[in-house]
This record gives sequence, C-alpha cells and structure tokens, in this order.
Amino acid sequence: MRLCVIGCGYVGLVTGACLAEAGHEVFCTDIDADRINKLNEGGVPIYERHLGQILQSARKARRISFTSNAGEAIRAAKAIFICVGTPPKESGEADLSAIDHCARQIAVEADSPKLVIEKSTVPARTGLELTRALRAYGRSSDAHFRVASNPEFLREGTAVDDFFHPDRIVVGVEEQSSVEELREIYTPILERRFHCPTHNGSCPAGPRGEFLVTTINSAELIKHASNSFLALKISYANVIADLCERIGADVEEVTHAMGLDPRIGGQFLKAGLGFGGFCFPKDVQAFVHLAASVGVDFDILKAAERVNKERIDRFMEKVHKALWVVKGKHVALLGLAFKANTDDVRFAPALEVLKRLLVEGASVHASDPEAIGRTKALFPDVHYHDDPYSALQKADVALVCTEWEEYKKLDWARAGKTMARKLIVDGRNLYSPASIRALGFEYDSFGRS
Ligand code: UDX
Repeated sequence: MRLCVIGCGYVGLVTGACLAEAGHEVFCTDIDADRINKLNEGGVPIYERHLGQILQSARKARRISFTSNAGEAIRAAKAIFICVGTPPKESGEADLSAIDHCARQIAVEADSPKLVIEKSTVPARTGLELTRALRAYGRSSDAHFRVASNPEFLREGTAVDDFFHPDRIVVGVEEQSSVEELREIYTPILERRFHCPTHNGSCPAGPRGEFLVTTINSAELIKHASNSFLALKISYANVIADLCERIGADVEEVTHAMGLDPRIGGQFLKAGLGFGGFCFPKDVQAFVHLAASVGVDFDILKAAERVNKERIDRFMEKVHKALWVVKGKHVALLGLAFKANTDDVRFAPALEVLKRLLVEGASVHASDPEAIGRTKALFPDVHYHDDPYSALQKADVALVCTEWEEYKKLDWARAGKTMARKLIVDGRNLYSPASIRALGFEYDSFGRS
C-alpha cells in the first residue's frame, strides 16, 4: 500500500522504515528541511539499533522516500500516519499543536479519500478533534477522511525489534473499512514477511502479536494507561527499595520473588534512579491532566510521579553520606542517557544528578557510550570521557546512572587502582554488593542494606 508518514522523528522513522521493509511504499515528510536533506543524503538523524540497516535496504528497494513537499507525500498515499511530537506543556497537558497543523495540512492538500492514522501519543478524544479539523479545513470534494488511532509501544533501543515483533497491534476505528485497511498494512508484519535485522531473517517461532480492534477513544487510552502502569510499577519497586533500606532487606530479591508471580511479572520492577525518557514522564503528566479534565483524581499516578522525582534526592543523600563534602570532589559519572542502548538524554535522571553536582561545585567527569554529544550541548562545563576508565582516574567516587551493559563488565579491580578513593554509589543496582566490597570498595545502591 502507498503510505505517508508525517514527522520523521524516532516514531516516524521507525514506523516508515519498518513498513517499507515489510513491502509498503512509504512517502515520508517533515517540516524540518535539514532533517529531510540529511535523510536524502543517506544519513540517519537518530541513534537506534538496526534502523540504519533497514532504511538502507528500503531505500535500495525504492520503497521509501523523503520530501519536504508534504502535499506531494499526502496526495501520493492512501493512508497517512501522523507521527509528530506531542511534548508536554507547562501544565503537563500534551501540546497538540503539531497534530492540529497536520490536520489542516492534510485537509488542504488531499485530493482523494484518505485514512488518517494517529501514531503519536495523544490523550483520549483527540481523534474526535482531528476528525472535526479535517472536515472544517477540507478543500476538495473528492477528499473524504476517516480517522483511526494506532498507538505505538516502541521502546528506545529496541524499537525496530518491537515494531517487527509486537505484543499487540491496537487499532481504534469508527468504520469497518478502516479495520480492513489497517489489517492490510500490518499483515506483512504479523506474517513476518520481512527480513528481520535482529534475527537475520529467521525469527524464532513464538506467539504472533494480537491484532486488536477497538474504538478510537479506547485505543488512545490504551497507550496512556499502559505507559502509566509501567511507570507506576517502577515507582512501586522504588518505594519497596526505600522500605528494604529501612528494614534491612534486599530489593532485588524481593522484586525477583514478586515477579515470579505471572499476575505481577518480572519486568519493570527494577529499582534505582527512576524512569526518564521522552515517554513515561510526559505520558504520566498528560494522563493525570486528562483524568482531571473529566473529574477523575488520579492520585496513585501523582504519587508515582512524586516517588520518581524523589529518586534524585535519595541518590544525592547517598552521595552526601558517602562523600561528606561534594564541593571540589572529582566525581566520575557513568551514564548520561535515560537508559541503556540509546543516545537520548531527554528527562534523563542522570542529567538531574549532573545538575545537582554542578550546583554543589563538584568536578564532574562524565562518560557514556552514546549520549556525550547530546549532553555536551546542554552542559559544556563538564569533563567528558569516551573511555569510562579515563573518567575514573583520580576519582573520589563513581556514580552509576545508566544501566549500560559495558558498565556491568567494568574491571573494577583495574579502575580501583587509579581512583583517589574506591567508592561507588550505584544508581542502577548493577553490581552485587558482596563482590564489589570484596574488591575493597565502599559501595552503596538502592534497596540493599
Ligand atoms: C517506553 C515504553 O516502554 C514504550 O512501550 C513506549 O512506547 C514508549 O515509552 P522508553 O521510553 O523507550 O519506552 O523506555 P523504557 O524501556 O520503557 O524505560 C523507561 C524508563 O524506565 C527508563 O528511564 C528506564 O531506565 C526506567 N526503568 C525501566 C526503570 O527504572 N526500572 C525498570 O524496571 C524498567
């Protein structure tokens, strides 16, 4: 099918590239001409595993193209995926101005019937407004618009794999014809008619994702409800961690045992510095705001947000307890990205820690396998090290802020010899306290006394 993707950010690029790899013809457009030029020069403006590979193969097969001429892309397609950003406003409400802009653009440019698909994360009832705007600004009598919601559940770092191996594909529609079109779009994914970069073309047998049909409002709500529940789960684990510290128990053992119960599940129970990134913090805020707008007080989510924010305070209390005085100390900061396998530092807990250290006059030596570039732009007065061992030289303390695999494998016996003091405050519970202490380190982490 001929598809259009509006918005070539992380969701748009992964969606466009994966659907092109699955055999569709995809016309991508973005208001950022530099981004389009970079893409047309063969560049990939974001760091995401496998994305470069499938973009290249889709380009070679002439199944994906990039243009600044939105009208051209819109008219060329039968279905249009809206993948623009919905950042938070001061109030926490989602800023939908980019969605509104897309609606007016599609309405003005379209000259034939279109299925308009919300892929961006939007609060419930956005589809109703989108439908109204398309009708209000529609120019051509030949252009008839149907709206659908198709939320994504892609995680940064595994987005391509998540797209090709979905747990569920949720489609919210008003007409049966929209179901058929969306089923046609996703059948190659569900039947695995694509070359999977993760499994090199031979994906392991296993359950295929469910193709779930519901209403637009429910589909929109499913996204916010899912992300907010995962955030809630993380904050719950973090409160358990605080309890474990006070009672003298081990949060890793507690959450492991909890997770063995399939009703709870072991994922997203990892205590530590809390959740960050461009999804959980803003989706929780937007969901609380949406609920309040219809008279529902989402107390438990507000609590989850507060618990999450307090992780930084908890962590800094540990740093103060360990270092006594922070001012003038050489602090090695391991990890800047909001999580491993991404270069994304948006709402990253590590950057909150960095801010606090700078305010207190520490000499910060930071390292991250991918996110130094994006952090340097925000914090020029920091010593950056590509090599974590170089950041650790002469360090008074090592602060672990992101759960990168390479930090789990660090040779602390070697690093310890170069540090001014063998001290680790671990914000991601990467190490076993016993083995690190056996190397002569002072060690603190979350929820383990
Ligand atoms: C999330 C959702 O997982 C995804 O479905 C949605 O589409 C977009 O938002 P992402 O933001 O990429 O994806 O990150 P995710 O892997 O969910 O992690 C979110 C944050 O929670 C990270 O900061 C991570 O470090 C933290 N986290 C995760 C924990 O603190 N503990 C955990 O157990 C899991």
